[in-house]
Order: sequence, then C-alpha cells, then structure tokens
Amino acid sequence: MTMAIAADGLIRSFGTVRAVDGVSFEVGEGEVFGLLGPNGAGKTTLIRLLAGVLTPDAGSARVLGLDPTIDGSAVRSRCGVLTETPAVYERLTARQNLSFAADVFGVPVPDVGARVGDLLARFSLQDRADEPVAGFSKGMKQRLALARALIHDPELLFLDEPTAGLDPVASRQVHDLVGTLRDEGRTVVLCTHHLVEAEALCDRVGVLAKGKLIALGTVRELSDRLLAASPVVLSFLGPVADAVAAAVGAVPGVAVTEREERRLLLAAADDGAAADAIGAAVRAGGRVVSAGRREHTLEEVYFALQEVPA
Ligand SMILES: Nc1ncnc2c1ncn2[C@@H]1O[C@H](COP(=O)(O)OP(=O)(O)O)[C@@H](O)[C@H]1O
Ligand SMILES: [Mg+2]
Repeated sequence: MTMAIAADGLIRSFGTVRAVDGVSFEVGEGEVFGLLGPNGAGKTTLIRLLAGVLTPDAGSARVLGLDPTIDGSAVRSRCGVLTETPAVYERLTARQNLSFAADVFGVPVPDVGARVGDLLARFSLQDRADEPVAGFSKGMKQRLALARALIHDPELLFLDEPTAGLDPVASRQVHDLVGTLRDEGRTVVLCTHHLVEAEALCDRVGVLAKGKLIALGTVRELSDRLLAASPVVLSFLGPVADAVAAAVGAVPGVAVTEREERRLLLAAADDGAAADAIGAAVRAGGRVVSAGRREHTLEEVYFALQEVPA
C-alpha cells in the first residue's frame, strides 16, 4: 500500500509538557485513520506537526511523500484541515466564505463558481447559501467549515474533532459526509475522543495518551490483542432454568460470567467452546433465541488501555 503519512519518532514539547512524545505510525492512501485519546493527549499537536503548521523538536514525517518541515506549503495545498474550533466569517455568506477560501487556495478562477456551488449542494447549504453565516446553526457552520476544507479538492484530510459540540442529528450528517470522503478514495485522519464515532468511521485507529501512541490497529485487532475474548451472549425465550445454566457452565472451556433473567454471558475459550455451550443449553431444554459474541466497543478497549502500565 502506498503511504499517505509516515511519522517517525515525532516529538514536540511546549515548555515542560511533551505534547507529542515519540510517535511513529503510518497511514495508507485511502485509509480513514482515527486518532483517539482524551483531551490533552496530543491529537491536535500531532495533526499540526503533520500539516506543517508546527515543527517537531525531533523525529520526522512524510506526508504525501513530502517533508512538512521543508515543503509545508506544498503539503497544505494537497491537504484539507478542519481545525478543532473552525472559524467561519460570520458576516460573509456561506458562498462568500467558500469563494474566499477558493481564492486563498488558488482554485482557478473559472472553476470557483461551480466548485462552490457543488460543495454548497453537497453539504446541504444551497438554500441558505446567500445568507450571512452569523444566522447559521452550529451544525451548519460545521458543515460549511468541512466544505471549506475540501475547496481545493485535497487528497488528504485532517479532521480535528469534527462533531464536537454538535447535536446527534448534526453529528450524523458529519458522519455521513466522512463516509462519502472515504468512498471518494481520500485519506482521512480523524481525531476524536468519541469512541463510537471512531469505531463507526475508521479503518484503523491509534490511541494516544499523554503524547504516546499506546495502541495501533483495527478496532478488532485492538480488542483481540488487549482484552480477553469477547463475551458470548446467549439469549433465551423465557427465564434461564438452573439446569440450563449448570449444563452450560459444565462445558469445558466455558464459564458463565453473568446470569440475567433471560440471558447468560459466557467466557468461552474459543468458538468451538461457544458452539458446545449453545448445544448444551439446547439439550438441557433451554430455548435459545440468539447467540453471538458481543464485540468490545472501542470505549471498552480505550479504558482497558488506560489500565495497561506504560
Ligand atoms: N500552543 C500550545 N502551547 C502550550 N501548550 C500546548 C499548546 N498546544 C498544546 N499544548 C499542550 O500540549 C498537550 C497536548 O495538547 P493537544 O495536542 O491540544 O491535545 P488534544 O488535541 O489531544 O486535546 C496539552 O497538555 C496542551 O495543554
Ligand atoms: Mg485537540
């Protein structure tokens, strides 16, 4: 896979705080990569290093094959950045905001009208395109900021907490838009402390804590690697009889970890043990209506990682 980003040992301090502390990772072209971590973990600083806005104290990066400390303006001309608290010009209309950005990014003049019109339509802003932005909702402003980040048709997008402070409907719209960016083959780096968001949108995630990348992989890989096997949930038509619970618990490689009125949660050593447990439940007279592994959410992975000693 061609790499859109390769970071190698990036370090950046502010005073005594090491905001980014030796971070190395790669993002493939066309990947949606999530940077996860709580406030202060170093996500924004890392993005600023990659976008060539900040210089690292040590380490290096290649972004689209370029070194952002040397070719910062070339990097920025091929990257879109949605900053953490994007400022749109309140007194300008949505169309004027985008036209201004087109000018800044050197979009060829004959293309500007059509490009701006397309983005307004795509981000569902066309009906209000010629109103001052001051009257827009937060969600509309965020959509406008995202449209602006796309004005020069960038290959790579850095989205820093794109749904922070949005209501669920507006968040959903932003999610859908990120999905379309992926479908277009753009590479996306998405910073978030919203774990469900990363889980829904990202191909891979890196977890940052206190400036260090403490985990890297797919949600599935992280969960497999770092937590015990996911619990198997057996759901029954009626209350779970003692005999059923006992029969399930007697299966080799299976332990009943939780018993609810109509559900058993099991720790199963492997899928074979899980299958045996289902068979045992049925033979003991249990009417199983569903059985499956409950995957760990990224949230569970995240909190489990916080407990891993550094
Ligand atoms: N410009 C700056 N000046 C001083 N400290 C900063 C600056 N930017 C970030 N920091 C500090 O670096 C650490 C990481 O911050 P940041 O990268 O914003 O994290 P995140 O985006 O994950 O919330 C924090 O301790 C923050 O206070
Ligand atoms: Mg941040």
